[in-house]
Amino acid sequence: MNRINKAFVGLVLFGFASSAVFASESPVKENNSVSSNIAWDMPQILFVRKGDPVRGKKINTEMMCASCHGKEGIAEARNWPSMAGQKANYTYKMLIDYRDEKRAKTATSTLMVRLAQKMTEQEMADISAYYASFPLPPATRPKLATKAQVEKILPLLTKGDGKRLLPPCLLCHGTNAEGNDRDIPALAGQRAAYFQKTMKEYKNGTRHNDIYSRMRFIAEVLTDDEINALAQYFAEMKN
Ligand code: HEC
Ligand code: HEC
Repeated sequence: MNRINKAFVGLVLFGFASSAVFASESPVKENNSVSSNIAWDMPQILFVRKGDPVRGKKINTEMMCASCHGKEGIAEARNWPSMAGQKANYTYKMLIDYRDEKRAKTATSTLMVRLAQKMTEQEMADISAYYASFPLPPATRPKLATKAQVEKILPLLTKGDGKRLLPPCLLCHGTNAEGNDRDIPALAGQRAAYFQKTMKEYKNGTRHNDIYSRMRFIAEVLTDDEINALAQYFAEMKN
């Protein structure tokens, strides 16, 4: 934490506090609607916290989630997201956002929208607790960037880039990219092809369910080479 630029702490705390209280007022330019219907107030936080991983395990098999995201949350394909060790609040928010058609309209999200629309909020909380009960996925070795390209993005992780007003990734995502209990996902061990795709969707605005545009503002100023190198770095991260 001491290597992380403290100047960004205020910004981040502002993000947490405001998303808890005013989340539903977050604007989205394209359709003049909110980015997410989730507001992290106390009843919402307690509801997700009470999710039951034992019931979640059953849902994972019965609703076929396991066929893509794996029996224990390790994705079966390179370009599908792994869920193992993901923070429950984040998983829950994604399911709500898919259900409400807030996340993105893409070929791959259509299926998730249909599935989420069949789930109760209790089932969403249960499966979120189930995935959160596993350790983060093991490192993989994708080939999206050279060693030199990965070295070039290292400062973005802990220092950010003042010139582009970029806060350091790990300030929000956690020192070991393990995520944050409020609503920030773990990135360590995430499938690189999925990471790359979702960052490009934040960059071009296709994915717009991030409250207060916290990820769109960041992805917007990253180059595609940087995104590829970041995808590689997080996939290779040892947990
Ligand atoms: C046929 C494969 C498939 C099945 C079955 C499936 N998913 Fe997905 N899931 C995906 C893909 C692909 C994405 C990425 C979609 C996108 O681009 O928005 C995804 C995204 C997600 C995300 C967001 C992940 C993130 O890191 O943002 C969650 C949460 C999720 N799925 C949960 C589930 C649950 C719960 C089930 C069962 C009810 C399920 N999925 C069934 C393929 C699948
Ligand atoms: C100000 C806090 C903050 C900073 C700094 C930040 N992120 Fe995020 N990030 C978030 C939040 C919040 C989300 C979840 C948004 C949502 O609800 O869709 C997120 C989501 C993501 C996702 C999507 C994960 C998934 O499973 O779909 C990726 C990838 C990501 N961030 C990468 C990065 C990278 C790389 C950096 C640094 C260049 C970074 N983030 C910096 C707050 C931040």
